[in-house]
Amino acid sequence: MARCFVTRQLPGPALDRLRAAHEVEVWPERLPPPYEELSARAANAEGLLALLTDRVDAALIEHCPHLRAVANYAVGYDNIDLDAATARGIVVGNTPDVLTEATADLTFALLLAAARKLPQAIASVDAGEWLTWEPGGFLGQAVQGATLGLVGLGRIGRAVARRAGGFDMSVLYFGGGPGEPGAASAVSVEELLERSDFVSLHCPLTATTHHLIDAAALARMRPGAILINTARGPIVDHDALREALAAGTIAGAALDVTEPEPLPPDHPLLGAPNLIVAPHIGSATRVARERMAELAVENLLAALAGRPMPHQVGVPG
Ligand code: DGY
Repeated sequence: MARCFVTRQLPGPALDRLRAAHEVEVWPERLPPPYEELSARAANAEGLLALLTDRVDAALIEHCPHLRAVANYAVGYDNIDLDAATARGIVVGNTPDVLTEATADLTFALLLAAARKLPQAIASVDAGEWLTWEPGGFLGQAVQGATLGLVGLGRIGRAVARRAGGFDMSVLYFGGGPGEPGAASAVSVEELLERSDFVSLHCPLTATTHHLIDAAALARMRPGAILINTARGPIVDHDALREALAAGTIAGAALDVTEPEPLPPDHPLLGAPNLIVAPHIGSATRVARERMAELAVENLLAALAGRPMPHQVGVPG
């Protein structure tokens, strides 16, 4: 039996499987454990099941001498210092595939909502401002036949591209992933920004993609273009985005991820025009979140039994 710390209650029965095999402590609060608390609770653990809201950095790893495995409840693992974990021989796992379709659905929901000014239109009804059918009211962008630029063509990018096919969109992409690109055409990031009516981000957050969408990138986009981000907040420079929206450099943005998360209610970006912000719900279907829990638990059970994780991203040094 190994000691495990799980940083939040998870949907579905997966944690029961972990409890059946190991001594498990689950953080009971709705909000994540503060960093000091995480560090203190993980200090004696051999297994850690962490969320994307938990910073598992080099100092925390240093503080956890018994730690052997970290299972991240997310496909992205930029919250974990993989080099520090690998240097200590700690294996790290993630939860790919099971959230791909849910995240692609949410990407398209945001794209359509931003294109058709849906939040503004619904808000006008809620505010009692629906006076008549107006020929010029809430005029949005056509999605059918438009050009979609995907930054990143991994699992989620491809799933978004498949949905775009149903809208007869032309799909451009920059930055690949395993497998065939299908009908999508590879272009430089500059060309993608210049030609796309919708730019959707599906790359991991790395040192290279941090603020990839900065003032210069936004200036390359078409004035009618809409930016969608369901990947990671820091890929977009929020100051530059606020200025681009205020100046009409681009027509709108729809973000499911921000920097920081959550965005404080008085954050300047929230005052920008034609902006939709969702609270990081890309994978939030019951089936996806329960399957993420199953994968995270399978990763942890395997590593603690000395087997390779089914979805391992760290290779022990
Ligand atoms: C992930 O798994 O990385 C997602 O951001 C969670 O929705």
